[in-house]
Amino acid sequence: MNTAVAAQLPRGALANDLSAIMPANAAFLAKPHKLLIDGAWVAAASGKTFDVRDPSSDNVIAHCSLGDAADVDLAVAAARRAFEAGDWAQMKPVDRERVLHRLADLIEKHADELAELEAIDNGKSVVMARHVDIKAALEVWRYMAGWPTKLEGKTLPLSGTLVPGQQYAAFSTREPIGVVGAIIAWNFPFLLATWKCAPALAAGCTVVLKPAEETPLTALRLGELALEAGFPKGVLNVVTGMGPTAGAALSAHAGVDKITFTGSTEVGRLIVQAAAGNMKKVTVELGGKSPTIILPDADLDVAIPGAASAIFFNQGQVCSAGSRLYVAAKHFDQVVGGIADQAKSMKLGPGLDPTAQIGPLVSSIQRERVTRYLKDGAAAGASAAAGGQALSSPGYYVEPTVFVNVNDEMSVVREEIFGPVVVAQPFDDVADIARIANDTIYGLAASIWGRDIGKVLRLAPKLRAGTVWVNCHNVLDATMPFGGYKQSGWGRELGGEAVYSYLESKSVCINITG
Ligand code: NAI
Ligand code: MG
Repeated sequence: MNTAVAAQLPRGALANDLSAIMPANAAFLAKPHKLLIDGAWVAAASGKTFDVRDPSSDNVIAHCSLGDAADVDLAVAAARRAFEAGDWAQMKPVDRERVLHRLADLIEKHADELAELEAIDNGKSVVMARHVDIKAALEVWRYMAGWPTKLEGKTLPLSGTLVPGQQYAAFSTREPIGVVGAIIAWNFPFLLATWKCAPALAAGCTVVLKPAEETPLTALRLGELALEAGFPKGVLNVVTGMGPTAGAALSAHAGVDKITFTGSTEVGRLIVQAAAGNMKKVTVELGGKSPTIILPDADLDVAIPGAASAIFFNQGQVCSAGSRLYVAAKHFDQVVGGIADQAKSMKLGPGLDPTAQIGPLVSSIQRERVTRYLKDGAAAGASAAAGGQALSSPGYYVEPTVFVNVNDEMSVVREEIFGPVVVAQPFDDVADIARIANDTIYGLAASIWGRDIGKVLRLAPKLRAGTVWVNCHNVLDATMPFGGYKQSGWGRELGGEAVYSYLESKSVCINITG
C-alpha cells in the first residue's frame, strides 16, 4: 500500500486503551457471555464459544457462546411458551407500556456505559455511539412504549348482501403475530436490536434476537436490562452465533411466525427463501447505493459538509450512506474539492478517542472487502481525489476516499461498498437526474440539495427510494418509516408501520339478525 499517502492523515494512537474503560464495562468484558433463553443465561449446548475483537487493535476482548440450531430450538420453544402463556401478549396494554418504559429508563441510566461498549465492540466513535446510536435507540424504545394502548381496530359497515334477510355487525382487531426471529447487522448493533425488538415487543410478540457475530455485546446487555426491567421469562431471548448456523436455523424455524432481518441483499434473499417453508411473515432491510444529488441552486456551504457526512458517517457503514454523489456540472470541482479536503483532514483514530473522526471498519473481512473495491476502482480507471488506501495497521482502518473519473460500468459505482468511499459524477441536465439516480438495483434512500423548493418537490416523487432527504442526509426518527424500494428490502422499520408489521388483523363478524 501507499503508506506515504496514508501517513498524511492526522491521527493519534490507532488502538483503544482499554485500561481506562468504565469499571462496569471492564467487568462485563471479562465475564463469560452466555445465551439468554427462557429468562436464564445458559452456555451453548455445544459448549463452544467464539472470539469478539476490538476493531481498532484486532485484539480479542470477549468470548461469546457459539449458539447454533440446538440453541435456536430452545430459544424458539421458550418464546413460544411465553407467547402462549399470555403474560406478555395478554398483559394489560398499560402494563406492557410500563415494562417497556422501565427498560427505556434502564437504557437511559446506562447510556454512557452502553455507548462505550458499542464503541469498543464496533469500532465507532464513542461520541457518535452516545449521541446517535444509544440516544436514538432510547427514543425508539420510548416511542414504541407508547403503542400498546393505541393498537385500535375498526368497526366495519357490512352491506350483508350475500344472505338475504340477515344482519351482521363486524369489527376488526389487531393481534400479535407470535414468535419473532430478529437477525441483525453489525453497523448499529444496539440501535438495530432496538428497531426490531421495540416494535415487536410493543405489539405483544415474543422475540429471539440473533445479533451479528462481529458485535454481539450490547445485545447481551439489552438482554440483561430486559430481565431487570421485569419482562416475563422467554419474552426476549438472545442467541449469539454465526449467520449460516444460528441465523439460518432461526430463519427456517417452523416455530417462528415472523422473521425480521437487516443485512446484505445476498443474505436477505436466503432469509426470504428460508421463510417460505412455513410462510412466515418477512421484513428485510437490505443494502443501498443511495444518491446524493446537488442541484445547480444548492447552498454549497451546506451541501459540501452534508455530502461528506452522508458518506463518512460511521465509516460509511450505513445502509443509507450517500455513496453515489451527483453534482451539477458547474459546481463539480468545488464540491469534490471541498469533500476531498474534508476527507484528507479527518482524524483517524479508535472509538474511545473522542476527537477521532474516522474509526476502523468493523472487521478484517470488511476491510478486505472495501480494499478490494478500492483496487477494482483504481484498476478500472477511477482516480482518488482523496484517500484510496487501507492502513497497514492491526486495526481495520481505511482512508476516507473520494473517487472521480468513474463511469456506470464500474463496480464502485454499481455495488454497495459499505465503507468510507464515495463515487462522484457531474451531471448537465436536471431533467435527466432522476433516471441516473434510479439506475441501480437498490432503492433505500436519496438526498436532494437545492434551494428551490418547487424543483425539489418535483424531483422527490421521481426518486425510487424509501426515504428522500432534502438538504440533509441520514436523518432518522422513531416516527418516520424507513425501508427500501426494489432490492433494498420489504416492509418498513420505525413509526406505526413497524408496529403494525408485527400484528395480524382479525375480522370478527357477528350475526345480529333479530
Ligand atoms: P450479512 O448479511 O452476512 O450479515 C447480517 C446478519 O445476517 C448477521 O447477523 C449474520 O450472522 C446473519 N447471516 C449471515 N448469513 C446468514 C444466513 N445464511 N442465514 C441467516 N442469517 C445469516 O452481512 P455481512 O456479511 O456482515 O456484510 C456483507 C455486506 O452486506 C456488507 O459489505 C454490506 O454491503 C452489506 N450490509 C448491509 C447492511 C445494511 O444495513 N443494509 C448491514 C450489514 C451489511
Ligand atoms: Mg455475511
